[in-house]
Amino acid sequence: MSQARDSKEPADPVRFTRAWDDAYTRFAGRYDLAVRLLPVWKTWLGRALPHIEGPRVLEVSFGTGYLMSQYAHRFETHGIDYNRTMVRTARKNFLRVGSKAELVQGSVESLPYPDATFDSLVNTMAFSGYPRGLKALAEMKRVLRTGGKLILIDFCFPPDQNWMGTRIAEFVERSGDIVRDMGTLFRECELEYSHQSIGAWNSVCLYVATRTG
Ligand SMILES: C[S@@+](CC[C@H](N)C(=O)[O-])C[C@H]1O[C@@H](n2cnc3c(N)ncnc32)[C@H](O)[C@@H]1O
Repeated sequence: MSQARDSKEPADPVRFTRAWDDAYTRFAGRYDLAVRLLPVWKTWLGRALPHIEGPRVLEVSFGTGYLMSQYAHRFETHGIDYNRTMVRTARKNFLRVGSKAELVQGSVESLPYPDATFDSLVNTMAFSGYPRGLKALAEMKRVLRTGGKLILIDFCFPPDQNWMGTRIAEFVERSGDIVRDMGTLFRECELEYSHQSIGAWNSVCLYVATRTG
């Protein structure tokens, strides 16, 4: 029997977000290079692509915009990320490759869009960096239309308790991320979902959650 595991959320969410934000400001350039050079990272992110439906798509926490640049030409694409350096880098990348998307700086906890705006919402390798999971998920649900999909990829504790995958998830947790049992959160937000393990000995999971009401 697999047992759900969850990291604890931080007592001080503001401090937690500030610490990560400082780190992203320092490492945005290297992050961009790493994503471009790491085939396995690109493979994981690419698993989101077949699930994205338009016409209107939002990517929350797009980082330097690698994944978004793969689909932006097909949809009316919007993106929001908290880190100003990431937003700047993504804008430069988009100019270079000729991609078009409306990119803004802001937080997942307060998305600057009306209710039910998007057909799909994409979120990769970022949810474990949000200090208040329920608040973030409720806000993402708010901007999805009924029938819209949230496509989320992140580290997880392997559902089959794979030994190697569990060590990887523990390492990610020790590095400061919050490795969550997303199923519990989806149920709390009344989102229907499916999930599959997509890599790193089942410590990377893809979730596709649908807003049904
Ligand atoms: C590990 S990076 C992931 C980037 C990209 N999605 C990828 O898969 O490579 C995490 C991103 O989440 C962003 N982020 C962190 N806290 C956020 C928040 N509260 N609201 C929106 N974005 C946030 C960071 O600025 C960073 O760009």
